Amino acid sequence: MRGFLRIKLDTGLIIGTGLIYASYAKICVWEVIGIAKLTDKQIKIREYLKSAWNLSDRSIARALGVSHSTVGRVRKEMQKSGRFDHLSNTADNEWMNHPYIQANKGLLETLNPRGLRAIKNIEVLDYMQAHPQIKSPCVAQAYLAREKRQQRKDARVTISLDDVDIRVADVRHVEQFDWIEDGSIDLCICDPPWDRTSIPICEGISRVAADKLRDGGSLLVLTGGSHLPDIINALSANKRLRYHWLLTCPLPQGSPASVSRLKIQSKVRFVLWYVKGTYDGDIVSDYINRPNSSSATDKTYHEWGAPEELISELIERFSNPGDTVADWTVGGGTTAVCAVLLGRKFIESDVDENAVKTTLRRVRQLFGYAR
Ligand SMILES: C[S@@+](CC[C@H](N)C(=O)[O-])C[C@H]1O[C@@H](n2cnc3c(N)ncnc32)[C@H](O)[C@@H]1O
Repeated sequence: MRGFLRIKLDTGLIIGTGLIYASYAKICVWEVIGIAKLTDKQIKIREYLKSAWNLSDRSIARALGVSHSTVGRVRKEMQKSGRFDHLSNTADNEWMNHPYIQANKGLLETLNPRGLRAIKNIEVLDYMQAHPQIKSPCVAQAYLAREKRQQRKDARVTISLDDVDIRVADVRHVEQFDWIEDGSIDLCICDPPWDRTSIPICEGISRVAADKLRDGGSLLVLTGGSHLPDIINALSANKRLRYHWLLTCPLPQGSPASVSRLKIQSKVRFVLWYVKGTYDGDIVSDYINRPNSSSATDKTYHEWGAPEELISELIERFSNPGDTVADWTVGGGTTAVCAVLLGRKFIESDVDENAVKTTLRRVRQLFGYAR
């Protein structure tokens, strides 16, 4: 008897559990089918409601050319799902009380989702109110962004963003520089790593510079003293460039670079000067010292960032406003920033994608773009 009872109970349990699973499965299937069954019209209404929940069914219906009862049905389904409760949050709908909306209620019925997203920005609404001739929130948003950019733009910038080209490229592979027109560069400044790895990099720098520099243009390569003979050999291998002079710059007081292996406390850095053809610029001093030079390296944007004062001095001495400056080892973008601020166009690259991104970000900021 007890055994029979247990079998009965077990069977009941199994059937019961089965029914629960079955009904659960049914809900899931309906959910899935329900979502899959959403028509384009319903999707459009959902998107509109997501942007402007507080707009009446009739206004949305007029904006989308559908019946207000369809809008009402979609709204109810969204409410039932509980996933869109945040849309009725009054704080998010403050824009609906803006005087511009109150005075132009009909406008909402003409907007697509992009326009709706734009008009929900109080600043855009203020702008439209101040400029009644602008009827499109997207246009107002674009004008507003341009105005803000102009306000943020560094007053010293005189070139346009079209004069700037920064890419990822490995200077050891000359074919990666096909995007630069031959003979189009007035001055090239490179600051490769200062260890032995710089030797093939310097061979590459001199090959690319020989192609891209104009006749009479200069190549300046920053380096330390450790591998000077090898670096000179690497840069001199290309006979289209000619060694011209060795410039020296003192490292700022209190920041000598110590090379313990050679028992040296270095207080200068070197700039190797090469020329394509015959140098046609002004007389320059071979001693580069900027009194304001505050640091040996500026690590804010790159571990081996060069001081802006030094790079600015080189650019000013070796090029004129409007000229094109290049750097194939741009690092944190020091040459880029100095070139922009001194009114030089520039074409720059680095093998490291992050370095290129940092440079691009710094330059865009100078032009007033947000980060
Ligand atoms: C000393 S850092 C340059 C720092 C830069 N002057 C600045 O102020 O930020 C050397 C740069 O050379 C780049 N580099 C190394 N090998 C390279 C290669 N084969 N081609 C291009 N760039 C390379 C590194 O990624 C690094 O950003």
